[in-house]
Order: sequence, then C-alpha cells, then structure tokens
Amino acid sequence: MLITQLVPAAVRAVEWFGDRPDATVFPGEDGHLRRGDSARRREFATTRACAREALAGLGVRPGPIPVGADRSPGWPAGVVGSLTHCACYRAAAVANSRAVRSVGIDAEPAHPLPRRVLERVTTQAERAALPADIHPLDRVLFSAKETLFKAWYPITRRYLGFLDATVEIRPPHRFLARILVDDCPTSLRGLLTGRYIVERGLVITALTVPHEGERS
Ligand SMILES: CC(C)(COP(=O)(O)OP(=O)(O)OC[C@H]1O[C@@H](n2cnc3c(N)ncnc32)[C@H](O)[C@@H]1OP(=O)(O)O)[C@@H](O)C(=O)NCCC(=O)NCCS
Repeated sequence: MLITQLVPAAVRAVEWFGDRPDATVFPGEDGHLRRGDSARRREFATTRACAREALAGLGVRPGPIPVGADRSPGWPAGVVGSLTHCACYRAAAVANSRAVRSVGIDAEPAHPLPRRVLERVTTQAERAALPADIHPLDRVLFSAKETLFKAWYPITRRYLGFLDATVEIRPPHRFLARILVDDCPTSLRGLLTGRYIVERGLVITALTVPHEGERS
C-alpha cells in the first residue's frame, strides 16, 4: 500500500484503486449525494468502505460516517481521521484520538499544476524553492497544502487559506509545513512534518499532528 508508507504505525490507513464491489453507503451518510450520480456514489461508498476497514483495525464496529454541514467527515467518538478520493484512487486514514491529535491525507493525479493555480496557492518564496523542472513537486506542494488543511480543520473548525501556511518539500518523501496565522493552536505551531509519494500516476500526501509535547 502507498498510503501506509506515509503515516506512523498508530495511524491505520486503507486505500483502494478504483471502486470496491462490496462497498455500500450506510444510512445517514448520503443526504448530500445527487440522485443519478452513480460514479460519485460509488466513489463515496468505496472511500467510506476504506474508512470502515481502517476503523476495524482500531476495533471500531462498522457504522455511518456522516458528512457534516461543512463537508468534513463525522468520525466516531475517540477517533481522528481523514479521507481522500481522486480519479482512480480512494483512501482513508484513522487513529485513536489519544494517540494522535489529527491526521490529514490527500491524493491527486500527478498532472502538472496549471501556472495560474500554482500562483494562487503558493508564495513567491515557495515557488522559488522549487527546482527549475518543477513537476511533479508543484502538485506535491498543492496536495501538501490540502492535506495540511484536512489536519488543521478538525482542530480549529476554521478555514485556512493557501497563503496562510508555507510548505517546503524535502525530497524524496518529506515536506515541512508552517502555519502562519497568529492564533494557531499550540499543537499546530512550529514546523510540522508530512510525507509524500509519487507513484502510479498519483501524488499522495499525509500529515500526522502529534499531541502537544510529543513532537520529535
Ligand atoms: C476540503 C478540501 C481540502 C478537499 O480536498 P479535495 O482535493 O477537493 O478532495 P479530496 O478528495 O482529497 O477530499 C475530499 C474529502 O475531504 C473531506 N473534507 C471535506 N471538507 C473537509 C474539512 N473541512 N475538513 C476535513 N476534511 C474535509 C471529506 O471527507 C471529503 O470526502 P467526501 O466528500 O467523500 O466525504 C478542498 O476542497 C478545500 O476546500 N481546500 C481549500 C482549503 C485548503 O486546502 N487550504 C490550504 C491551507 S494551506
């Protein structure tokens, strides 16, 4: 598995390429899904199935993972986690909330990031730190920021803009992130270390936020 290479042992992660034939949508999960959009329904069901399998690894029985009004996943009590899906890939990562403060994951097709998107989501300094041949690190930078947002949001319940954090990529598999907002919670202050992989036409990133005082 690619995703398991990006998270510590305390985080249970499951991925799937394509859609799982056994995946079902649980009652209470699908209120927001448009009728007739069967591709989205299969993607949604497969991602949730990955999450339920990962939760089983924590000893959590299968149950609904509702979609919040803010679109974030509603994890069972005592669990933190994150979901991602793109083209042909779906993944979930979960952990006991006593072990980990928060986790974020993101996957993207490893296509070059359009220049105008790159300029909107990165600072001049971040772009300058990329090599002359920027691809696929441009996509890694974008994905790392989305992963950072998914780790940030459950802690703060607030939006974080792309320019509210900086990311520095440390090939072959690490990135360092720093949140720049003044009232950043203690667990998210300073340098946060994430991991990335570029394989099978995908960029996948993950960031695990330790509890305060447990950062190495
Ligand atoms: C929320 C967001 C990060 C999702 O990323 P994406 O690449 O569009 O989509 P992904 O497939 O990777 O992830 C989708 C999953 O994210 C999860 N998600 C949605 N909103 C979320 C939130 N506020 N917090 C945590 N997870 C969230 C959901 O589980 C969703 O899957 P589902 O709809 O099937 O339940 C993105 O749409 C967004 O709003 N980005 C702007 C904020 C940002 O990235 N800032 C950068 C800070 S440096």
